[in-house]
Amino acid sequence: SFKTLDDLDDGQRVLVRLDLNSPVEDGEVQDNRRFDRHAETVAELADREFQTVLMAHQGRPGRDTFVSLEQHADILADHIDQDVGFVADTFGDDAIAAIDDVDSGEVLLLENTRMCDEELPEEDPEVKAETEFVQTLSAEFDAYVNDAYSAAHRSHASLVGFPLVLPAYAGRVMETEYEANTAIAEKEFDGNVTMVVGGTKATDVIDVMSALDEKVDDFLLGGIAGELFLRADGYPVGHDVGDMDLFDEQWEANQAKIESMLAEHRDQISLAVDLAYEDDDENRAEIAVDEIEEKTQGFLDVGSETVMTYSPIIRESEAVFVKGALGLFEDERFSVGTVGALEAIAATDCFSVVGGGDTSRAIRMYGMTEEEFSHVSIAGGAYISALTGQELVGIEVLARE
Ligand code: 3PG
Repeated sequence: SFKTLDDLDDGQRVLVRLDLNSPVEDGEVQDNRRFDRHAETVAELADREFQTVLMAHQGRPGRDTFVSLEQHADILADHIDQDVGFVADTFGDDAIAAIDDVDSGEVLLLENTRMCDEELPEEDPEVKAETEFVQTLSAEFDAYVNDAYSAAHRSHASLVGFPLVLPAYAGRVMETEYEANTAIAEKEFDGNVTMVVGGTKATDVIDVMSALDEKVDDFLLGGIAGELFLRADGYPVGHDVGDMDLFDEQWEANQAKIESMLAEHRDQISLAVDLAYEDDDENRAEIAVDEIEEKTQGFLDVGSETVMTYSPIIRESEAVFVKGALGLFEDERFSVGTVGALEAIAATDCFSVVGGGDTSRAIRMYGMTEEEFSHVSIAGGAYISALTGQELVGIEVLARE
């Protein structure tokens, strides 16, 4: 297993990889939970008098979200209540000069790692370790800390190159995310294990369900994937407006897998008994799935009856894992399924991990707190990889002797 900050002597020069990848609206970086969480690691390093230099990425080249990290430095500074310096360079002379100026207890953020050509192509850690980026920067530090659990499925230079050339440690976010997200695969639970599965990506849902069919006793379905399962069960659901392409494309791509999953694991799978949609007056309306006669509606949530069926199953579980939302919870009218499931979890003392999509946002939007759950993940793709039992390359290199 990997070493942590407990194994690192205070006061050294540390290079730290965070995941501050954030939504950007009209060029403005939006504050979000990744800042809160990483702030804990950074504040600890500052308190322990490290000379702390941070790396992170933002967006992907060619997209609107591919911007400088200058705003991130200010947002992080607010979270740790201390200045965070910024230099608009990744490993050139300006970066090296700024790094030399960092004193004990000070924090500096380097420019978006993806602005460096050697960062992105997915290559083996050994190849990444040889890049000029890794070789040049590593010469300035005593140790490397990876706190970017949510990017650990990427074989990028800033994530997998440094652990091969510097003593490497996991940050606090890395530690807690790793432990919670692998619990479903690693831990033995005596009682029932339930998984709330929703969201918009059917492939993720199928991958997660196939990987966990022996671990999970009850899968409670919702979201677009839930509708696809209903369709496989013979109900004429579907989206003839809006999301029609997404729905039909996913149906065509996944029909065979969904049908066989349903046939083999029928007793483990609960499907919605009613669904919600927007009526002509723009209000929430519900319909029992048995009464749906033709494929005319875009359904946006599971119905209240479904929540009443799912809640007792959650209440009787020893562990509950959430992967994705049961409806379009950003719109209050369609938050009933997602919030109902989360409230049922919060009301029990089961072991619970919430992640996938933007599910964690629902917790804050609807007056719950993260403390009501065992763990709320800040990871997207890495969470799915963990649930499906894949080893994350960024963690594998961290754990190498
Ligand atoms: C994320 O936001 O999920 C991670 O930062 C990974 O981002 P990526 O999918 O652009 O690699």
